[in-house]
Parts: sequence; C-alpha cells; structure tokens
Amino acid sequence: MSSKLMHALQYSGYGGGADALKHVEVAIPDPKTDEVLLKVEAATLNPVDWKIQKGMLRPFLPRRFPIIPGTDVAGEVVQAGSAVTKFKTGDKVVGIVSHFENVTVARPPEVSAAEGAALPVAALTAHKALTESANIPLDGSGERKNVLITAASGGVGHYAVQLAKLGNTHVTATCGARNIDFVKGLGADEVLDYKTPEGASLQSPSGKKYDYVIHGTAGIPWSTFEPNLSETGKVIDLTPGPTAMMTFALKKLTFSKKQLVPFLLIPKTENFEYVVNLVKEGKLKTVIDSKYPLSKAEDAWSRIMSGHATGKIIIEP
Ligand SMILES: NC(=O)c1ccc[n+]([C@@H]2O[C@H](COP(=O)([O-])OP(=O)(O)OC[C@H]3O[C@@H](n4cnc5c(N)ncnc54)[C@H](OP(=O)(O)O)[C@@H]3O)[C@@H](O)[C@H]2O)c1
Repeated sequence: MSSKLMHALQYSGYGGGADALKHVEVAIPDPKTDEVLLKVEAATLNPVDWKIQKGMLRPFLPRRFPIIPGTDVAGEVVQAGSAVTKFKTGDKVVGIVSHFENVTVARPPEVSAAEGAALPVAALTAHKALTESANIPLDGSGERKNVLITAASGGVGHYAVQLAKLGNTHVTATCGARNIDFVKGLGADEVLDYKTPEGASLQSPSGKKYDYVIHGTAGIPWSTFEPNLSETGKVIDLTPGPTAMMTFALKKLTFSKKQLVPFLLIPKTENFEYVVNLVKEGKLKTVIDSKYPLSKAEDAWSRIMSGHATGKIIIEP
C-alpha cells in the first residue's frame, strides 16, 4: 500500500442515504499482478449503489464496511501489475469494478471519459438483456420481434432502446410525459406515458403483442404483462423481487410458454468492447442527466435515489 493518499467517498453502515456519505482520504492501493491502477477521470452511479447502502442486497453485499461505493469508471492507467499485457501506463480505459468480475477495456479518443464511464452497468445490462436473454442479434438479421422497454428514459432504458433498434425490432417504450420526445428520438416506434391508464396497461397503441419485455421498473404485476405478451412472450425482469421469483418458478413448473426471466449482469470483455465501439462509431450515444464534482457527490447520490434521472449521472474529480 502506498503512503500517498487519494480522495474517496465512503459509508460505514446500512442506510442514511446521501447524508451518510463521508469524504475521506485513503491510501492509494497497489495493483495486484493482474490489476491496473487508474487515475479516475469520470464515474457514474447506478441504482444498485444506493440499494446496497440500503441493505437490499444483504447478506451478500457489501462484503464489509466501510465501503467505497460505485462500480463504473473511466480513467488513465498509472500503474499496471506485472501480469498485465493488454494495458500500459498512460492508456485510457473504461472499467467495471463489479461485485462479480472486474473488466477493463480500452477507451478510444472518440469516446469521452464521461461517455465511457456511463457505459458499464447500464449499457452492458441493456446489451445482455437484448442479445442473451432475448436472443436478438444486433446486426438487423433475425425475425422481426416486438419489444417493450419500460423506464426507457433511464440509464439502462435509453441504451436498450438504441440497441434494440440496431436489431430487427419494433420497439414500444414507457416513460414519463416529459421524456416522450426524448425516447422517440432514441428510436422507439411508439411511446407510452406510464402515468396514463394506457401506459399503466402497457398496451401497444398499434396492437402489437410483445415477444420480449426489457423491464426496468418495479411494481408491475404479471397480470398486467400477461395479456400483452405474444404466445411465447418473455418478461426479462431487471429487478426481480420475491414476487417475480415466485412467478418465474411458477411459469417454469407449469411449462408455461410465457415466461418471466430474472436478470443478473455478469460483465464480459467482448460485450464491453462491443458497446464502446458502438459509441466510437456514433451508433450508440450516452445521454447525460447531470454532472457533479466529487466534492458534491452527495447531490449525485440523492439524484440517483430519486429514480428520476434521464440517462446517466456522472461524477468527475
Ligand atoms: N439485475 C441487474 O443486474 C441490473 C443491472 C442494471 C440495472 N438493474 C436495475 O434496473 C433498473 C433500472 O436501472 P436504471 O439505471 O435504468 O435506473 P434509472 O436510471 O434510475 O431509471 C430512472 C428512469 O426510470 C423512469 N421511471 C421510473 N418509474 C417508471 C415507471 N413506472 N414506468 C416508466 N418509467 C419509469 C424515470 O422516469 P421519470 O423521471 O419520468 O419518472 C427515469 O427516467 C433498476 O432497478 C436497477 O437496479 C439491474
């Protein structure tokens, strides 16, 4: 461990929200042989960060207190472990310090630090849900599929709409009234305001039955999804709670053709490189809700806890 210090944000127990965050100075860690040490240029927050603080993932996370929250970063390599061959000092990268797997990929100059930092959890979730859970190729090949994306204005949703439209899909999306034009601009074919009766029913205005639902909100019962699904429709639930897990088990046990699929992101290098490259090529854009300096990270924390971000929240040093 180095004797030099770095700024960090930390909390020491469950609960307390933004008020429980403390600005501290901690020793700069030494990278292990297969790790890189980064000078952080930008980071983003995801709902999982405040959910961990609230104790919603206990007993699994956090593994110990105090904890420095956050997983998604863009930065410059300042030191590489002896076994690292892919990166050297001075390289620009984006990374995910995931609770399951750490992945680092190169950040080309066309992708800004903020655009890159926004990608890991949100874009990889959208990508995995569409390509692995829903099996939709993103090169436009494959049969046409009808896809519903809920919370299409959020971090995951805004990437999911854009990625889905790279495939052969008709996209229906839900969001609040103020974001309808924004979500149409991302490529959605039809958009429902979730606060209207039509939005709450999830019914496609053009009468489509959904082959897949990329479900990024909570509190919608299976009985609302069921009549809107095609014969073999699947709801890919990004936030599966106990009721969703019961539905998942029930649908499996009864050999139902309509299924609920609980989702968990395990990041993969190839998928990470793929989405970074899409941003480089201008085929995927990161929409930034707001930016905060690290000194005001509490405000960023309150913003992500509000559940009303449009796109991604960025923290910069
Ligand atoms: N399982 C996994 O591995 C995994 C990975 C990533 C994310 N997730 C989960 O996926 C969910 C979405 O993540 P995120 O980063 O996209 O969240 P987010 O950025 O906080 O989503 C905020 C957006 O959701 C919209 N929204 C809220 N309630 C809505 C509703 N009932 N209908 C339609 N839109 C609604 C908000 O619009 P308004 O402001 O207009 O209300 C806002 O634009 C979170 O629960 C997250 O924990 C899970």
